[in-house]
Amino acid sequence: MNEKIPAISPLVDQFSRTISYLRLSLTDRCNLRCSYCMPGIPGETESATGTVKTGIFLAHGDLLSYEELLRVVRLAVSMGMNKLRLTGGEPLVRKGILTFIHQLSLLDGLEQVRLTTNGVLLADYAERLYAGGIRHINVSLDTMQPEKFKKITGYDYFAKVWQGLQVAKEIGFRIKLNVVAMKGVNDDEFQDFGRLALNEPFQVRFIEFMPVGSQNSWQKNQFIRADEIKSRIAELGVLTPFHKEHGEGPARMFDLHSVDKRKGAVGFISPISHHFCDQCNRLRLTSEGKLRACLLNDSETDLKSLLRGGASDQDIIDSIRQTILNKPQGHTLQDDLTVTEHRSCGGRMSRIGG
Ligand code: 5AD
Ligand code: SF4
Repeated sequence: MNEKIPAISPLVDQFSRTISYLRLSLTDRCNLRCSYCMPGIPGETESATGTVKTGIFLAHGDLLSYEELLRVVRLAVSMGMNKLRLTGGEPLVRKGILTFIHQLSLLDGLEQVRLTTNGVLLADYAERLYAGGIRHINVSLDTMQPEKFKKITGYDYFAKVWQGLQVAKEIGFRIKLNVVAMKGVNDDEFQDFGRLALNEPFQVRFIEFMPVGSQNSWQKNQFIRADEIKSRIAELGVLTPFHKEHGEGPARMFDLHSVDKRKGAVGFISPISHHFCDQCNRLRLTSEGKLRACLLNDSETDLKSLLRGGASDQDIIDSIRQTILNKPQGHTLQDDLTVTEHRSCGGRMSRIGG
């Protein structure tokens, strides 16, 4: 994996980046309501019988079907893409995902299928995900305090996520934890997460809180730069940069060696303070079937209309190619934090796939 794709590859964009990694948002639905992603969605009301949802999520027919998704993936793989991530919303809430994963495992040339999940259903699914060929999972977890978990996500599910992590660990998954860093919310736990990386075989990655998405609760005073998080982690031991192969993602990864000779891995994803756009190798397919070259740029290609309008395989390939060629060089979110409003990423993160 990661061998250089020849320069004539249809995957190379205008800025010499090779776009070999496709992220699929399988659904915009989720079994959590994280404050920074889909807090109190308009139209969603609580009733005595539970949560009533009205028209806030895509109708089933608006999602790409698994057949449509498989077709897109097959064509993307035929162009040379070799890595896929399944995301959401929460991908495990979409019915039929295990069959879909099995079908993906039969595609020649697709080297890796990875999954991003909130972990709530992980304990139930882990074994079958492994059987379907998944080896790498990212679990979003912003706190290890059950009360706070409930406050951030709206649900008292910390124990479920923790159990999911333990089950997945026993099965042998490579596990990364994504921690969105929010001042006044979880900055008191950064070192606890650092210690977790020392005690468990989880890579812990801190993500700078981004002011994106129309439902986002971002506030300037909640933002913490990755360097500040890093210096707090450095109090736990010595940080040595990983030798990272191209394509391993946007995190700056470090080995953490503690004074008592334990070792862990921590990383910092800093979309705001250190742009990593020059290394971006990804393309996203949103849950409503739009191909999107940049998380932070709202330009999209409507693949669903093509798929449902009788397009040939070549038409789809041409459209993927064109989207890659139009991939913007970078985004404009600045770390001077003059941003006071949410910028770009007009849709919800859950629809786009974070
Ligand atoms: N800023 C930073 N990270 C975010 N995520 C979702 N919304 C934001 C945001 N506004 C994270 C999720 C998940 C990953 C895919 O993106 O926590 O782990
Ligand atoms: Fe669900 Fe992830 Fe959004 Fe939280 S951040 S509401 S877990 S999609």
